[in-house]
Amino acid sequence: MAPNDFTGQVALVTGGGSGIGRATCLQLARDGARVVVTDFNVKTASETLSLMPNPEKHLALQMDVTQQSAVQSVITTARDKYGEPPSLLVNAAGILITDPSVDKTGTDVINVNLKGIFLVTQAFTEELLRGNEGAQEGKGVIVNIASIVGKIGHPDFRYYAASKGGVITYSKSCAAEMARKGIRVNCVLPGLVDTAMTKPLSEELRQSIVDKTPLRRSGKPEEIAEVIVFLLSRRSSFMVGACVEVTGGEGM
Ligand SMILES: NC(=O)c1ccc[n+]([C@@H]2O[C@H](COP(=O)([O-])OP(=O)(O)OC[C@H]3O[C@@H](n4cnc5c(N)ncnc54)[C@H](O)[C@@H]3O)[C@@H](O)[C@H]2O)c1
Repeated sequence: MAPNDFTGQVALVTGGGSGIGRATCLQLARDGARVVVTDFNVKTASETLSLMPNPEKHLALQMDVTQQSAVQSVITTARDKYGEPPSLLVNAAGILITDPSVDKTGTDVINVNLKGIFLVTQAFTEELLRGNEGAQEGKGVIVNIASIVGKIGHPDFRYYAASKGGVITYSKSCAAEMARKGIRVNCVLPGLVDTAMTKPLSEELRQSIVDKTPLRRSGKPEEIAEVIVFLLSRRSSFMVGACVEVTGGEGM
């Protein structure tokens, strides 16, 4: 397969300190992008940077996706460092709360998983389109990470599933609006992936998901990241508003 070529492009990744976000940062760097690794946890974001071949080319910044001022400040810092705003965005930050007594109303999950994507997308597109509202293709690309449970639901994750259903319809709505402005938006629906997020799940719950997965296993973050970087690349130039399931067959 021909490699992706992101030479000269600046990519912003949220949740880049762990799991799928980290794997995406590493593949973007591998394929020539300058990567702005952001995470709520700046220590893990810096660790991601240290795993890249030329860390000085990239940036690691603390960013809570629920805080509008923090998001704006990261976009400004990235633009100032590179002399241009990021043109690639991956919204990977997310939380999963399985104990219903912790987030009784689902507010935390909605704030991070859904409102976070609204805020980052808003700041990213505003900066990218400033003085450049024309319709020419190839100005930018956004990939949002939803989940297969955003399509099929799950009895143990009702708020999480609702937040991810929102990510799917938000992505399609943005895709329709942004394509006219030269920004492609797509979304990825992973199944069960081995990351810090799924580590606390009970063995029984994990097994019940694997049993419903035709491939009979969970996924690796790198297997999701390969699809994300494909969607970011020019190789997917005719894909807009797609929701790509990367699940080993779960929920197809
Ligand atoms: N692991 C799975 O099975 C799975 C399945 C479907 C979808 N997803 C989605 O993939 C994305 C990545 O998840 P992961 O599995 O890599 O999890 P992860 O826990 O390994 O990584 C998530 C990252 O998001 C960061 N984060 C949390 N709250 C934040 C905030 N307010 N601001 C900024 N960063 C914040 C965390 O610090 C962490 O580094 C999430 O959106 C998740 O919902 C994961």
